Amino acid sequence: MPELAVKGGVAVRPEGYPAWPVFDERDVQAVADAVRSGNWGGFPEPGTNAARFEEGFAAYQGARHGILMVNGTVTMEVALKALGIGWGDEVIVPALTFAATAYAPMAAGALPVIVDVTPETWTIDPDLVRAAITPKTRAIMPVHLGHQMADMDRITAIAKKHGVVVVEDCAHAHGQRWSDRGAGCIGDFGSFSHQSSKILTSGEGGTLLTSDDDLARRAHSIIDCGRAKDEAEREVTFGANYRLGELHAALLVTQMERFEEQREQREAAARYFDEIVVHVPGVRVMPHDPRITRWSFYNYVFAIEPEAFAGASNEVVAYALEHEGTAAEVQYPPMSRYELFQPSRSRLPVAVEFADRLDPSKMSFPVAEDAGLRRSIYLQENVFRAGREGVDDAVESIAKIQKHADELTDVEPPG
Ligand SMILES: Cc1ncc(COP(=O)(O)O)c(C=O)c1O
Repeated sequence: MPELAVKGGVAVRPEGYPAWPVFDERDVQAVADAVRSGNWGGFPEPGTNAARFEEGFAAYQGARHGILMVNGTVTMEVALKALGIGWGDEVIVPALTFAATAYAPMAAGALPVIVDVTPETWTIDPDLVRAAITPKTRAIMPVHLGHQMADMDRITAIAKKHGVVVVEDCAHAHGQRWSDRGAGCIGDFGSFSHQSSKILTSGEGGTLLTSDDDLARRAHSIIDCGRAKDEAEREVTFGANYRLGELHAALLVTQMERFEEQREQREAAARYFDEIVVHVPGVRVMPHDPRITRWSFYNYVFAIEPEAFAGASNEVVAYALEHEGTAAEVQYPPMSRYELFQPSRSRLPVAVEFADRLDPSKMSFPVAEDAGLRRSIYLQENVFRAGREGVDDAVESIAKIQKHADELTDVEPPG
């Protein structure tokens, strides 16, 4: 009789974890009010709910301005455009992230220069960033991955020294703080996603944060078809319609109200997880950087040593965890193996001109490859909204899989 649920054994937590997103009558009422108001769109920009959310979220993170738009991909494209970055420019991005981080510079016309991550944090390696700087470099785009933050001290120092800007990809980092500064408020722009799975969601949506008045005005203009946003100069931009509608913005206003409580719940549970999971052989937690002064995360990421799991990959272990009832996944392969990162499928001038530099078969990112294809497992946020008992079950599931890893040898996750 097999022990592991993936082989037909009894699951540790068949009831699973709390559903996401969390909503109640407040959210329903907010959307109903938006429907009844008749103001459904995002024009004039920003709409009433959009402006309320922008103000509240920017204040929570610690920026002067928030600019709400349709998703957390165009946010980065808009940020680069507002900074005047485009054709002929290079933008440095990490090899372990969602495809959007490399797509955005291309959409703005610039070349993404992909560099590896550090083995300790799996965030962009500052030494490799420094080595990748050329006279054409205009921006660095660190990603705060999982529950980690990129080393913003070193990245901002490198940026300052070389006169380049920083756009933080904070799609995972709502609520995080680095040395008491909010994620997205350290670089020139911070980009957030409000897509369904993210911890501050309206199904779709994205916010840019900045404390620079000119950049904020320009970003508002770019997402509003280029309309001037200042009274005096009437500065127009080359823009398009990236406005978010008021029904979505209404949801963000109510979701923001419960955000801090959820963050605290996750933080407490994750600290407990860190404490007890280290007793499972073959499991490594990422070091907790003391400069992360408010901890928040979308997905919690940890490492397995495949040798301690009878040679099973992270994909197989995550699949087995799912069967035990713990929501786990392998989020990102290295950029070189990403089926979504396919520059050659586009006719973008940058992809045609730099086909050689954007050819995945010519890329090598040993740390991202090892993390993405062998070791990294992301636990979903809801594992940390079920109290200590939820964490106990998740850790028991990992320990059980490790103990009976010999049962995994013929397990093949679908697709
Ligand atoms: C690291 C990272 N950057 C950017 C994005 C893009 O956000 P969106 O899905 O809102 O376009 C995501 C979302 O999945 C992400 O995980």
